Amino acid sequence: MAKQKRSRLDLQKMKDEKQPAVWITAYDFWTAQFAEKAGMDMILVGDSLGMCIYGYEGTVPVTMAQCIYHSEAVRRGAPNTFVIGDMPFLSYQVSIPDAVQNAGRFFKEARVDAVKLEGGQRVVPQIKAIADGGMLVMGHIGLTPQSSGQLGGFKAQGRTAETAKELIDDALLIQEAGAFALLVEAVPPEVCEIMKNRLKIPVYSIGAGIHADGQLMICSDVLGIFQAFTPKFVKKYENLAQKTTDAFLKYAEEVRKGEFPAPEHAYKMVDGELPRLEALLKHS
Ligand code: KIV
Repeated sequence: MAKQKRSRLDLQKMKDEKQPAVWITAYDFWTAQFAEKAGMDMILVGDSLGMCIYGYEGTVPVTMAQCIYHSEAVRRGAPNTFVIGDMPFLSYQVSIPDAVQNAGRFFKEARVDAVKLEGGQRVVPQIKAIADGGMLVMGHIGLTPQSSGQLGGFKAQGRTAETAKELIDDALLIQEAGAFALLVEAVPPEVCEIMKNRLKIPVYSIGAGIHADGQLMICSDVLGIFQAFTPKFVKKYENLAQKTTDAFLKYAEEVRKGEFPAPEHAYKMVDGELPRLEALLKHS
């Protein structure tokens, strides 16, 4: 029987019943298939695809076209999982009508279940407008990669009382604006716990500790594919970088030694057709 897709109400119930939600990023059809098979509660088509798929240094160059294209592939791979489209840099910062229009594109073209955007107080009008447009929208605070330049790099946030208080205030404003959930990135667990306790909506963590209502990880980190750097909060559950390189090396070695393809990898001619071909060639 096909898995039942989670709804916003299911996710809220999971928070209320203290059942952690687990989600992961995916950027393509086959990863999405595996994520659905593994029973992920949600999949994020993160703009981290800029780094994990396209090899950019950050997420700033990522475009709407890329995000929609990858979200469509993920939707096809995971038709029964709650999929979140990530709004890329400049798709919501310039104006509120832009934000609503671009959020709407994710729903219409990629059939996502929700969108996510980065920022605190300064994106509250956008969150409100998207929610008022009837769309599910998630906030994202703490380390917000699209503004990593302003933050001085990919650094943990909210480590002092003042900066933690600012984040907690942002969290409350985002809830008030109509977000259905909040993602908190690279923040001390104690700060995330305060948010989780003060907010009615689910508060999820990526690098914000065990107390959140659920955890997100980047698929390329979980699989041990991403090579550029490893954030403190990452746990690699596999080493696919090594396994993939080993497989490619073995393939190359077998071709070079004349061991591949072996007879079992070759198609057979229909019985009796080879002598007929030889005869045909003789007379041509
Ligand atoms: O793009 C992404 O994958 C994200 C996570 C880093 C939270 O936004």
